[in-house]
Amino acid sequence: MAQAGRRTVVVTGGGTGMGRAVADRCVADGARVVVVGRRLEPLDAVVRGHGPDAVTAVAADLTDPDDVQRVAEVLDGTAVHVLVNNAGGVGGAASPGLHGRLEAWRRVLDQNLLSAMLLTETLWPALARPGGRVVSIGSIAGQRGGGGAYGAAKAGLVAWSAELAARGGPDGITVNVVAPGYVEDTEFFDPGGRSSRHDALVGQTLVGRAGTPADVAAAVAYLAGPDAGYVTGQVLSVNGGAYLGR
Ligand SMILES: NC(=O)c1ccc[n+]([C@@H]2O[C@H](COP(=O)([O-])OP(=O)(O)OC[C@H]3O[C@@H](n4cnc5c(N)ncnc54)[C@H](OP(=O)(O)O)[C@@H]3O)[C@@H](O)[C@H]2O)c1
Repeated sequence: MAQAGRRTVVVTGGGTGMGRAVADRCVADGARVVVVGRRLEPLDAVVRGHGPDAVTAVAADLTDPDDVQRVAEVLDGTAVHVLVNNAGGVGGAASPGLHGRLEAWRRVLDQNLLSAMLLTETLWPALARPGGRVVSIGSIAGQRGGGGAYGAAKAGLVAWSAELAARGGPDGITVNVVAPGYVEDTEFFDPGGRSSRHDALVGQTLVGRAGTPADVAAAVAYLAGPDAGYVTGQVLSVNGGAYLGR
């Protein structure tokens, strides 16, 4: 699937919300994009939107190592210029009792942290050298807490990315995290695209609005682009000022 002169970008969770916006942005910037998610339908919509020359859909549950291996098989040795670990979510409710809580935590850690680890380790040898980029989507919850296992998983992405940045540096690979605050028009809170706490979350921002998937895609595009070669091991917060950087 390699095409001369064209960058290949892999976007997990690329069928909806921020992942879809990242995919759209990368296609607009001239890349060939592979979108990955569990449901084929939203991924196919991205293919229909841009055409099969620009976008390839791969249905895969990234918490399953066999599915992750299939993503690598579809890429078939193509150099990956950018890997965007965007897939994630808050998981379902916990069943009662300690066993239920453990199962719920594992589900969330699998979905947000281990999915990114599995795909990144699998595609690591295929990353462009120099110039490869790994961008993982963290969360404001990983910075200030929130969501129990969810905040812990997103904080884990940051520590793991720091180690990967050290590993990739000598090969000219950068590894960073984008940490969004509240972003509407995604399926994260509700298929309708908004949190039930919309007004309160907007009220926490300094700019008085919710984030959009395009806000996040712009941050990813910067970190994925040639101007960000000296930026690695960092967390770029995109939260409207709801949590201040230092
Ligand atoms: N929206 C916010 O306010 C917000 C704030 C901070 C961080 N985030 C983070 O931003 C990222 C994108 O979320 P979003 O807001 O755009 O919500 P979203 O629309 O629900 O996107 C999540 C995507 O991840 C995919 N996904 C989930 N589990 C997967 C798995 N096991 N294997 C493969 N794909 C999987 C989903 O597709 P399938 O269901 O088809 O698999 C979906 O396309 C997530 O990591 C989320 O935690 C969101």
